[in-house]
Amino acid sequence: MGRFIFGVIIGICLVAGGAFTYFMTGMAPVAATAQPMPFERFLAHAALHAKIDREAPKTAPIQPTVGNLTAGAHLYIHDCAFCHGMPSGPQSLQGRGMFPPAPALFTPRGMVTNDPVGVTFWKIKNGIRLTGMPSFERGLNTTQMWQIAWLMRDADKLPPAVSAVLAPPPAQPAKPAKSAEPRKRR
Ligand code: HEC
Repeated sequence: MGRFIFGVIIGICLVAGGAFTYFMTGMAPVAATAQPMPFERFLAHAALHAKIDREAPKTAPIQPTVGNLTAGAHLYIHDCAFCHGMPSGPQSLQGRGMFPPAPALFTPRGMVTNDPVGVTFWKIKNGIRLTGMPSFERGLNTTQMWQIAWLMRDADKLPPAVSAVLAPPPAQPAKPAKSAEPRKRR
């Protein structure tokens, strides 16, 4: 028994020593561009899912009417597009440079249309710790967060009026360049 306990203690020391060496000698990745640590993605996702399963609301207080989706689209442009990009545009430069990268929420690969709307609401409200995803609880009210959550849930089937809000403005006809005025002499 004594030997067994001794073995366990040695084992714990070796693991702790290994982890200490890994972190203190610069082997652990810290750059946003570095590859994830062993098990990092798995552990982070498992922790997030466990938490969300417990806390995400199962019913929504508002419905995805055109009015709510339109309001969500305006909020998205203001608060989310910087990292998650627009349906028509190239993926956000900032979003791509993050670790983990911010998914392009209007592309088939990045959309969260299969997630229950309460799960997306939870992410908007609480943010995702140790990623670039902020919490919007202090900046948006509950209705606004639900409006954006519904927009994300319906991203692949938005009514034309809502898609129009997210579409790029029509190209302006080029204005004739103003002729450079000669500088006034004093
Ligand atoms: C400063 C950058 C930034 C802003 C602004 C931002 N996000 Fe995020 N968001 C991220 C990053 C980075 C992730 C990836 C987190 C991860 O992989 O765990 C993310 C993840 C998400 C996810 C989860 C995606 C998935 O596949 O599970 C959703 C949904 C989301 N964001 C919605 C929003 C909405 C809606 C807004 C605006 C209200 C917003 N985000 C604003 C950076 C941002």
